Amino acid sequence: MTQTVEANCSADFLIRGRKSAFKTHSPEETQEIGVRIGRQLNPGDVVALIGDLGVGKTCLTQGIAHGAGVYQDQTVNSPSYILINEYEGKIPIYHIDLYRLERLEDIVDLGLEEYLEGDGICVIEWADRMSELLPENHIQVKITGEDEFTRAIEVLPVSAD
Ligand SMILES: Nc1ncnc2c1ncn2[C@@H]1O[C@H](COP(=O)(O)OP(=O)(O)OP(=O)(O)O)[C@@H](O)[C@H]1O
Ligand SMILES: [Mg+2]
Repeated sequence: MTQTVEANCSADFLIRGRKSAFKTHSPEETQEIGVRIGRQLNPGDVVALIGDLGVGKTCLTQGIAHGAGVYQDQTVNSPSYILINEYEGKIPIYHIDLYRLERLEDIVDLGLEEYLEGDGICVIEWADRMSELLPENHIQVKITGEDEFTRAIEVLPVSAD
């Protein structure tokens, strides 16, 4: 199933548990896909973002935070230097960026696993760096750059069963 931003896809594409694919042509369109994802998230959900440097993971996260009901006055930007940003909202959001992760053990040392098991929503950039530690149930989002402004976004709900 391939959908573009322009296509009139159902609002609950994620809840249905099927793979969805989108194509965006601007940062605003990527944020809009993020909003749609965010609206479907529940407490405890983990979103694993995978994609190259500068492809749009933070951009998508901005939309996800907005869609999940983060209070308006908070800036959502890359937490690269501090690994984790917390945003308050209807459901707390933990924005984790593993770009600077040096050792997998640091995840444990920093207590990141507690966030993953908690009732907030975790959105993880460079989630493939901790694939062994991701919960069995999570939402995998792969972003691929096709040209300067075109991004392919694949959303795949992963579950144990
Ligand atoms: N369709 C698009 N969707 C998202 N971003 C786009 C798009 N087209 C161009 N861009 C540009 O790509 C960049 C995406 O930056 P962003 O910080 O979101 O990427 P990132 O994957 O989080 O990077 P990093 O790996 O450094 O964390 C921005 O400069 C944005 O303007
Ligand atoms: Mg980023």
